[in-house]
This record gives sequence, structure tokens and C-alpha cells, in this order.
Amino acid sequence: MNARPESPDQLEHLRSLEQEARREISETDAPQALVEVRARYLGRKGSVSDLLRSLGGLEPTERARMGKAANEAKARIEEWVRQRRTEIDQEQREHALSGRCQDVTLPGVPFVRGRLHPVTRVVREVVEFFVSMGFTLEEGPEVETDYNNFEALNFPPDHPARDMQDTFFVEGGHVLRTHTSPVQIRAMTGRQPPFRFIAIGRVYRHDLSPRHSPMFQQVEGFMVDEHTTFADLKGVLYAFAEHMMGSGTDLRFRSSYFPFTEPSAELDFQCVLCKGQGCATCSQSGWIEWGGCGMIHPQVLENCGIDAARYQGFAFGMGLERSAMNRHSIPHIRLLYDGDVRVLEQL
Ligand code: PHE
Repeated sequence: MNARPESPDQLEHLRSLEQEARREISETDAPQALVEVRARYLGRKGSVSDLLRSLGGLEPTERARMGKAANEAKARIEEWVRQRRTEIDQEQREHALSGRCQDVTLPGVPFVRGRLHPVTRVVREVVEFFVSMGFTLEEGPEVETDYNNFEALNFPPDHPARDMQDTFFVEGGHVLRTHTSPVQIRAMTGRQPPFRFIAIGRVYRHDLSPRHSPMFQQVEGFMVDEHTTFADLKGVLYAFAEHMMGSGTDLRFRSSYFPFTEPSAELDFQCVLCKGQGCATCSQSGWIEWGGCGMIHPQVLENCGIDAARYQGFAFGMGLERSAMNRHSIPHIRLLYDGDVRVLEQL
């Protein structure tokens, strides 16, 4: 078999296959179509493979030359396919980014809204209420002097009432304040009545239970004038309870003892959930402890340089977490301070 005359034809055929492949590749614009074009030329049944198979009849040097040319053509086609593939990927990315493929029916990216901590919300409501009653805000530090926290409030150094308010003692006669009552001393010393003040802030005690945390927040309120009475105290507290817990909220005053008030009372509000019938939240009592109150002890006024023969007034103090817990049926005070977003997100 003389294959020689076929050689130029075959070379030409190879060149034209190569040109054709190149054109087709450049006209392809999808990955799948590219796979098909490649198979048509380079696949086992592709045209270049057919050509290679047909070289069997050629004379050895000619066959080697054509084989080499065919393999080089194959490599070039392979390279064009690879390049085109990169281009197609790039084109598709650009197309997607251009927004032409945007599916406007897809759900949007959710926007996570923050919210105020439940205790912060209570603080703001408390301030709003007392400001509307003509009270102004006073402040004091959380690390307080023993004098302001205890002594000026009529707790002598060895008084057993201090035990109820055992706290963290800091060197140099300072304590982490056990209540906001020292702000009474700060606010009244060096001033003369009439006073209508509130103080809000963190206080610290040796206390741990579902309803007690070693750190909690109190609001303190006090009013002093020539004729301020216990009736004024009750009027303010009833209005406050209604503002925080709804109209008709009943209060209970139980006589009690604080060194800095006389007479003194402990204050409960009627359980909002059972309306006083008794339920798990109020331990079946119908009442929830709220705070303490009373008429400011004359000695405290004197300690601040105020004439107790002329002026008298009331004071009260209560925890703020209780209101937040009651409102959201939160069973454990710690949940308010763990910072667990799964809890806070629900409030
Ligand atoms: N300071 C008291 C406490 O924390 C509460 C209180 C405030 C009582 C003002 C009477 C008057 O227990």
C-alpha cells in the first residue's frame, strides 16, 4: 500500500480540523457545550483521533511526522478548550454580578434588630415616671464610703442590721454599696429642702437565689419638705405601681425596721399574674416583695445638716429586676445577667 500521496492531504485535513476546532471553541459559551466540542475533536471517536487511526497505512517516517503533527494539534486544541473554559467561567461570574440574574423573589438577607435589655427598659420607665412627678436624678458611686453606706444612715459600726447587708469590703473604709440609700446622704448634705430626688444604680449583697443576685439594681426615691407625710409616700408609690404594673395594682405595707427610717415598712405589690389569688410566681401568697420604705429618721436629716424639727420626709427603695422578671415571667434573676442572646432575644 503506497500511502505517500495521501500525506499532504492528511496534513491539510489536520490543519483544517484544527482551524474548525478553534472557531467552534471560540463560539462556544457554555461549559457543557465546550465539553461536547472537545469530544467531537479529541474524544475517542473524535475527528482528530480518527485521523490518527488512519495513519496506520503510511510509510514509517511519514507516519511519525504526521503523528507528531497530530499530537501537537491535539495539544493546541486542548489548550484552547482550557482557555475558553476559564473565559466562560469569568463571563458567567460577571454576568451574575451584573445583576441580570437576580431573582427578586428570593427572600432578602434578614436584618437583625437589636433591642434594649429588659432592665434598661424598666429603668427608663422609672425615670420617665418620676420626672413627670417633678423628681430629679441624683447619682452616687458603686464603691461607697462606709460612712455614707452605713454610718450616716444610722447603722452604728456593730449594729446587727449590717449583717443583712453584708457586702464586699474594699481597703480604706470603702464598700461596694449595699443599697442606693447612701445617695440620700450625698444629695442632702450641703443643701436645704424641699427635695424630690431619685437615684438608680447597681448595688451589691451577699445574696444568691432565683430571686436574688449578688449584683442588682435599685431605685431610691426621697422627698423632704415641711409637711411631707406617710400619706404622700403612699400616694407616690400607688401611682408608681400603676405606672409600672397597670391600673388597679394593689400594694401592701408591712411594718418593718430600717435604721434610717421611722416608721418603716416593707412593700409588696399584688401579684400581677393571679391578681392576688396565689400562684407559683408569688409562692401562693398573692403578693410579691418590692422594696422598703418609711419616713426618713430625724437623725439622718441631722447628719446631713438639715433641721429635723422643721423638715420631714419619706424614702423608699426597691429592686428593678423584679419588675422585669414579673413582666416577662422570667423564673431566675441570673437569666437577666448571663448575656445569653437566646434568652434576651425573646424579651
Ligand atoms: N435601702 C433599703 C434596702 O435596700 C430600702 C429602703 C430604702 C428602705 C429607703 C427604706 C427607705 O433594703
